[in-house]
Amino acid sequence: MIICSCNALNDKAVRQAVAAGASRPREVYSGCGCEAQCGNCTATILSIIREQPAASGRG
Ligand code: FES
Repeated sequence: MIICSCNALNDKAVRQAVAAGASRPREVYSGCGCEAQCGNCTATILSIIREQPAASGRG
């Protein structure tokens, strides 16, 4: 499923970026080698970030 049509990011790419430690949409974009364009996908990316368990603990 395409999450970000501007950058052709699918949910798998977004989840991989989150699993790699991205905790904000802009970190997801940079983790995927792109940048936010229109911003329409930000809310969807945020919901994917919130679905995932925290990638790293404190400390
Ligand atoms: S859909 Fe992601 S920046 Fe436009």
